[in-house]
Amino acid sequence: MTRVAILISGGGSNMLRLVEAMQAEGFATPVLVAANDPTARGLGLASALGVPVASVDHRPFGKDRAAFEAALLEPLLAARPDILCLAGFMRVLTPGFVRRFEGRMLNIHPSLLPKYPGLHTHQRAIDAGDAEAGCTVHEVTAELDAGPILGQARVPVLPGDTADTLAARVLMQEHRLYPAVLRRFVAGDRAPVFLP
Ligand code: GRF
Repeated sequence: MTRVAILISGGGSNMLRLVEAMQAEGFATPVLVAANDPTARGLGLASALGVPVASVDHRPFGKDRAAFEAALLEPLLAARPDILCLAGFMRVLTPGFVRRFEGRMLNIHPSLLPKYPGLHTHQRAIDAGDAEAGCTVHEVTAELDAGPILGQARVPVLPGDTADTLAARVLMQEHRLYPAVLRRFVAGDRAPVFLP
């Protein structure tokens, strides 16, 4: 059975949908949920679902990303994941780390890539006057938010939208898109999923 590890930084709402889909449909096994913040609320959610958890606080490592990643790799490699999903994981990973999982590492980003890589995606879409926004699941490569697109879901930008109201609308689509993409990715299908 395909083994899936998930990295989170906070609430873990995307992680939760992935774990629930795997446990309900059995297309893969969640073997670890790890966070860069020991207080991440998602760790408690994962534990409550019986998924092993780990956390490595990135702060003591300062700017030494490689040292943080070496510490994170310990529980991560011990879980022997076949696939690694980033889900609300807010640390930039070094090319060395990415290379270890290249071709089997996914991320969800809250914009219609290639538009708006990086942060503050919703405010940027509003400021640009975009009629629509959305989210993208992509393979993670060394270049930030730039790997092959595996799926997208679109939402309208409505008059009066704030970054928060738009983020909430996009997040609902993230929760639909990520499980749909992971299910196919596990089956070896990398054709992009475009949710209506
Ligand atoms: C979501 O907007 C996701 O797109 C981004 O992090 C935010 C929080 O995700 N990567 P989650 O609730 O922690 O899954």
